[in-house]
Order: sequence, then C-alpha cells, then structure tokens
Amino acid sequence: MLATASILIMNTYPTELEAWVTTASGERLFVRPVRADDATLLRREVDQADPETLYQRFFTPQPRINDDTITYLTAIDYQRRMALVAFTEDGEAAGIARYEALEAPNRAEVAVTVKPSMRRRGIARLLLEMVVHRAHESGFDELEAVCLIENEAAINVVSSLGFEFGPPDQGLVIATLPLNPRTTSASTSS
Ligand SMILES: CC(C)(COP(=O)(O)OP(=O)(O)OC[C@H]1O[C@@H](n2cnc3c(N)ncnc32)[C@H](O)[C@@H]1OP(=O)(O)O)[C@@H](O)C(=O)NCCC(=O)NCCS
Repeated sequence: MLATASILIMNTYPTELEAWVTTASGERLFVRPVRADDATLLRREVDQADPETLYQRFFTPQPRINDDTITYLTAIDYQRRMALVAFTEDGEAAGIARYEALEAPNRAEVAVTVKPSMRRRGIARLLLEMVVHRAHESGFDELEAVCLIENEAAINVVSSLGFEFGPPDQGLVIATLPLNPRTTSASTSS
C-alpha cells in the first residue's frame, strides 16, 4: 500500500503543475507538486495530525512515520510517484493527494488526506481529480484506492470520481478506476 521499494529517477520539478484552483464550494487554493524540501512541512503536519486521521490514511492505529518515511513521501519523481499539496490563501497546508506506481504494470494507488478543519469543502475531490489527471498523462491505465470499510468519507469521495469498489477484505475495500479512455480532468483557474 503505497510503500513499494523502488529506485526513483528524479525528474525536473514540474512548475507547470502549480496552479490556483477553486473547489466546488468556492475555496481558493494554491496547489503545487510536493518537493523534497517539503519534508519539514510534512513532518510537522504528521506530528500534528489526530490519531483517527492517521489511522484512516495508513490503516494502522499507531503508524510509525519516521524520518525515513517522510523522506520517502517527499521523494517525488513526478511520474511514477506524484504528490500534490494544497495551501489556503493564508498559506496553511490544507491537504495532500498522491499516487504511487504499483508492481502491476501501468497501475498506481492513490491516497488523499485533508486537514479536519478544512473538510467538506471539496478539497479532497479536487486534489484527487488533479492526481488522477496527472496519472493518466503519465501513462497509467488503472488506478486503485484503498479505504477502511467504515471510512464513509473516503469511500464517498473516491466513488464520486468514478472508482468502483470490490468486495471487502480484512476491513479494507479496494476501488479501481480505469483511465482509458480519459475519465476526468482537473478544474483549474489562474
Ligand atoms: C476522506 C477525506 C480525504 C475527505 O476530504 P474532504 O476534503 O472533506 O472531501 P470533499 O470535501 O472533497 O468531499 C467530496 C465528497 O465526498 C463525500 N464526503 C466527504 N466527507 C464525507 C463525510 N464525512 N461523510 C460522508 N460523505 C463525505 C461527500 O459526497 C462529499 O461531497 P459533498 O460535500 O458535496 O457532499 C478526509 O475526510 C480525510 O482526510 N480523512 C482522513 C484520511 C483518509 O481517510 N484518507 C483516505 C484514504 S485513501
């Protein structure tokens, strides 16, 4: 689950993916790809995150997110591993979404987290739309999302993007989204 050992060939930071976007609820956000120097930011956000959020994201009650994991999560090659972070107009980090190539060819897993105080504003849906769009452009033809069975919020967000869920297994459900032909696009404005 988003943790396969792989060697990344680092590509140039894709400045063209930086954008001011507006969510369905009218929230303006600055979205940009994650960079290696976001490790400090991510460390702080993880340290401040509540246990429920961490459990829903990592599926274990006390995930060990050590500095190696933080480095891993911020080592982005923008092709096989991609992450976008959204900031409010005040510069506060609001959410992050990512995809990561899986071992199965042309298949990647997506995940998203939004700060509790920023939820229900359409941020997860928007970030996931952008991540899905980028995954398609990078040549993936199927995405999956893994959610806890009881995580209604995640299941609804993922469903709203067209992912279809398989049967539950050990407390988790896996949803898949074929990307060919193109199924979604990011809504951005400047
Ligand atoms: C799941 C999560 C990312 C949703 O973030 P969000 O920004 O609040 O989601 P959005 O505002 O984009 O919601 C989009 C839709 O999802 C559904 N949804 C979102 N939160 C929901 C909730 N608490 N209960 C039921 N449906 C919910 C709704 O259909 C919503 O559309 P609506 O607000 O127009 O009704 C957020 O709750 C979170 O970070 N949870 C912890 C981490 C996690 O579970 N990650 C998912 C692992 S893949």
